[in-house]
Amino acid sequence: MFKRTHTCGELRSSHISSEVCLNGWVSTTRDHGGLIFVDIRDRYGITQITFDEESNPNQFKIGRKLSMEDVISVRGIVQPRKEGAVRKDLATGEIEVDVIEIEVLNETAPLPFVVSDRESASEDFRLKYRYMELRTKELQSYMDIRHRTSQAVRSYLSDDGFMEIETPYLMRSTPEGARDYLVPSRIHKGKFYALPQSPQTYKQLLMISGFDRYFQIVRCFRDEDLRADRQPEFTQIDLEMSFIDEDDIREVVEGLVRYVFREVIDLEMPADFPTMSYDEAVETYGTDSPDIRFGLPLIDFSDYGSASEFEAMHNADCIKAIVVEDGSGYSRKVIDGLTDFVKDYSAQEGKETLGSLAWMRLQNGEFTGGVSKFFGNELQQKIISDLKLKDNALILAATGERATVLPTMGALRLEIAKRDDLLSDDDFKPVWIMEFPQFEKDEKSDKWVFLHHPFTSPREEDLELLDNDPGAVKSRAYDLVINGYEIAGGSIRNHNPKVQMKILDILGIPEKEANEKFGFLLEALTYGAPPHGGIAFGYDRFVMLLAGTHQIRDVIAFPKTTSALSLMDGSPSEVAKEQLNELGIKLKK
Ligand code: AMO
Repeated sequence: MFKRTHTCGELRSSHISSEVCLNGWVSTTRDHGGLIFVDIRDRYGITQITFDEESNPNQFKIGRKLSMEDVISVRGIVQPRKEGAVRKDLATGEIEVDVIEIEVLNETAPLPFVVSDRESASEDFRLKYRYMELRTKELQSYMDIRHRTSQAVRSYLSDDGFMEIETPYLMRSTPEGARDYLVPSRIHKGKFYALPQSPQTYKQLLMISGFDRYFQIVRCFRDEDLRADRQPEFTQIDLEMSFIDEDDIREVVEGLVRYVFREVIDLEMPADFPTMSYDEAVETYGTDSPDIRFGLPLIDFSDYGSASEFEAMHNADCIKAIVVEDGSGYSRKVIDGLTDFVKDYSAQEGKETLGSLAWMRLQNGEFTGGVSKFFGNELQQKIISDLKLKDNALILAATGERATVLPTMGALRLEIAKRDDLLSDDDFKPVWIMEFPQFEKDEKSDKWVFLHHPFTSPREEDLELLDNDPGAVKSRAYDLVINGYEIAGGSIRNHNPKVQMKILDILGIPEKEANEKFGFLLEALTYGAPPHGGIAFGYDRFVMLLAGTHQIRDVIAFPKTTSALSLMDGSPSEVAKEQLNELGIKLKK
């Protein structure tokens, strides 16, 4: 091997006439008779190298046999490219390297897919050969963004007085909402560690220890149903601070987000991030993680519905409408497509299947089509004036149970935005969601459950409601949402052990069980716990936004599939009987 003098992205006109050595992979080869052009690639770029039969017949013979992804090492002279062959789109496009000598370091077996074209194979296949997919330009740039993001985060937070402290991966299970991944103990047979869903309890303990500004870029593990923005193991940028309130957390987070966007993708985020209450988010956008890059708010249509002659809209639990300002491009076929979308979405995600999507279009001052015939002229004029509608406005409305109508119309809003091209990947609109309910009633069990986690503090002014009206209590939790992704979530905690015990009691965790499960934290709260709070970013989601992709797997070097499989190493896998015996585990058939 010739020790490399330059990377494959480095050579320019200023290097002409120098002798250089390059190492890398064969990206393409082109045979022009007595002249062969080969692109050699590494993670820094691509350089064209040439083999000339006349001047160097021995090396030419080797050059002719090269195939894609062979690993080669070459020594040669940098030459200017001929006029007409200069490539402006390539950093090294003004030069080529005339090969004096080549060494083939490793020939490649026939390739499972074309590395220059990610789309040439199905995702499952690419995940099986992930190490090779990671050679693609796209994934290499995503990994670079990921690396630069963590560097920027560490630098910003360290300069802001935060200390990075690691916490254990083998820990006691804590109640954070998802299922735990368990690790059996060999030494203590029948006992298990849990992998952390987050370092929540540890970071609170660190506050009690006096480390008033903690952070960690840390792996978390959750055995839950996966989606495009969820992985069973993912990374958080985890923060906790003492002697602070919500404003302090927001200030640190906004500063960090602005710094990272500037450093990593050279983009200026707004000076202040707006806030929105949970209730407003859910009512207006149908979700607590709204994409506010575009309008299309959900409009309460109940009064109009009940005043109409459309029976399906009488006595409805909830009617929400979306107004498409210029609905002229919405043919019957398009509306039928959106109706199917609403049916499918509600069937999968809602409590009931919404049977239809009511619609009507404003033309020449009156509604036509769809359900317009059920809306009398007076009512039509009221709707037009209340909603300030102009000609061609299209109203789309869904009727049903709130728990179904809201998320479904929220999803329809996004679908319309995609259809009408209202979403730009270069536009970033952050929003803080605040004033979450502390508890929610789980309809199946009829029990109160938490929205964030059980260590979240209620608002001071709502403490009195804990006894009589837990459903009305708002918490001190907050989420940072960017472009519809929940990027970070956190809360001010219960540093008062009595309030903490009360919350656990409402959640149906009696004192004995609470003490068994996290007595260590409850006890620690009695030994001088400062007021504290924090937040955790979904680091992978954050990188996904910075990279402009919508697939979390794109920004993780070795991700799992949506069914939590690693197709490359075949995990999870069976283990030998001896290993199970050692752990005292017998599998049920
Ligand atoms: P939370 O559970 O809201 O809070 O998680 C914080 C952030 O982590 C990201 N996230 C995920 N990313 C990828 N895959 C997953 N399966 C996944 N689950 C969550 C989200 C989310 O906003 N301990 C608290 C934080 C705190 O209170 O300080 C916690 O973990 O972006």
